[in-house]
Amino acid sequence: MASLAGELTAAAGAAFDAMGLDARFGEVRRSDKPELADFQCNGAMAAAKAAGKNPREIAGEIAAALKSQPLVLSAEVAGPGFINLRVSDAALSARAEAVRVDPMAGAEKAADAQVTVIDFGGANVAKPMHVGHLRSAVIGDTLQRMLRFLGDTVVSDVHLGDWGLQMGHLVTELEDEQPGLIYFDAAFTGPYPSEPPVTIEDLGRLYPQASNKAKADPARNERSQKAVAEMQAGRAGYRALLRHFIDVSVEALKVDYGFLNVSFDLWKGESDVDHLIPGLVERFKAAGLAEQSDGAWIVHVAKESDKKEMPPVMLVNSRGGTGYHTTDLATIQDRMETLTPAPERMLYVVDQRQALHFEQVYRAAGLLGLIEESRLEHIGFGTVNGPDGKPFKTREGGVLRLADLNNMALEEAQKKIEAAGKMPEDMGEDERFAVARQVAVAALRFSDLMNTRLTNYVFDLDRFTSFEGKTGPYLLYAAVRIKSVLRRAAEAGHQPGAVAVHEEAERALVLQLDGFGAALLGAREKRMPHILCEHLYSLAQAFSAFYGALPIASEADAGKRASRLALADAVRHQLETGLDLLGITVPERM
Ligand code: ARG
Repeated sequence: MASLAGELTAAAGAAFDAMGLDARFGEVRRSDKPELADFQCNGAMAAAKAAGKNPREIAGEIAAALKSQPLVLSAEVAGPGFINLRVSDAALSARAEAVRVDPMAGAEKAADAQVTVIDFGGANVAKPMHVGHLRSAVIGDTLQRMLRFLGDTVVSDVHLGDWGLQMGHLVTELEDEQPGLIYFDAAFTGPYPSEPPVTIEDLGRLYPQASNKAKADPARNERSQKAVAEMQAGRAGYRALLRHFIDVSVEALKVDYGFLNVSFDLWKGESDVDHLIPGLVERFKAAGLAEQSDGAWIVHVAKESDKKEMPPVMLVNSRGGTGYHTTDLATIQDRMETLTPAPERMLYVVDQRQALHFEQVYRAAGLLGLIEESRLEHIGFGTVNGPDGKPFKTREGGVLRLADLNNMALEEAQKKIEAAGKMPEDMGEDERFAVARQVAVAALRFSDLMNTRLTNYVFDLDRFTSFEGKTGPYLLYAAVRIKSVLRRAAEAGHQPGAVAVHEEAERALVLQLDGFGAALLGAREKRMPHILCEHLYSLAQAFSAFYGALPIASEADAGKRASRLALADAVRHQLETGLDLLGITVPERM
């Protein structure tokens, strides 16, 4: 539904247009001087420059046109040509009521909805996830929620790393431990047992075991490489093992991602596109795009305009193997061929340090005509650092597993809740645990999402789980508090009713509510969830100011009380809707 800012923008745009000037000069936004204005339009200066006219004169005409709008209380020209706008209490009241009952809590669908694949998560089978995978999961899942909410058709794909040397390590290490398994009998062709021969714990043990041996012993590494080559060439027993490894890993991954409220439509991986690779390589050759170089097949992707060196794509290496570039290209082909409707855009939510890889892949995909290069977007992010400013590690110096991280956050959340004495006395064990989990998830997700995604941040669980400051738990608590105000009022027989905005704190609150849609569209356009985080944090603060300034349930005047309860309910609705888009669930009470 249209926001006040949107309606004013449309009206100002029409006024500029009527003067023969570009309607885009009519952009109206929230005023940064709330004591002077609710909204402002600064377009007259730029319009005057473009048309060679006097800015104050243009501003005067636009202001006059805006004054005739029913929602406008006053429109005044200030300084060199700023237009300061005040909207009427009636307009604010109507807006708050509309937000309260709107399924989108006042936001509007995007005008340019697209079929969009979001490739995120990117966990590797058998290799433990690290905090970088946490970022991909949280940012990617938030983007999928926001884009869907705004009308895009989204297909999310975890794109597992299940096709590399680690698979060779697993196969060979398992063979050393259990040489008698039927999978190692090259003469046997199946069917193989449906029960996996390993557990997730086995995988967690086998992989580092083999990888350590391989690091010390080139012959051991060679064995793993040979096993991968045989697997890729189709050896049935190895393929059957691969399937087991993937299934066992996926089951464990679903638990870790599930804890964080992260989900995927597709659980595909690199190995799923293996069958497409020979044909794809042929296409590159037939198109004259692949070139032989030292026994390898490469694709040149450099452009005249490149400022930095752009190495070629490695299509097939000198040993005849294919790697990360080629599986990503085959995956694009797979998505274009198998998804209906066909994707119009693909977003890759992956560590910024992989930027070069994606640039190469996108160019090669464009050259072959799999999809236009400009429709492939790398959504990069910075690293999660420890207090020493270096990428976050465990105390022992290893990568931190996502599962351990989740547990750490859960424990810290339980501690904080206890210290704050926040849980009601009568709350049972199960509900207590569920609330603690939601606090932990709010802490992890919000502290990641609130940063501009490309900046690095320092992992500080103590701060993230705090109920004070710009944190997930603070927002969660703000939403729960509104729920409890409304519940207690209902118990006393007081219901929300017609909104009649009057006080300054009420006006400020509705003006804040009005910005939800713009924040969401901005976050979608830039692929920057922190814009939504900022909005929600400001909304919680505006509510806090309102709550501190005015009585709500204890207001004696029945009309005012009903109005303020309705305002509180509108805020609750928008806060809950927005937090849900961040993957954060608000408990009923805490
Ligand atoms: N598995 C990769 C890693 O751990 C991430 C995959 C990202 N997605 C992609 N299509 N390449 O670094």
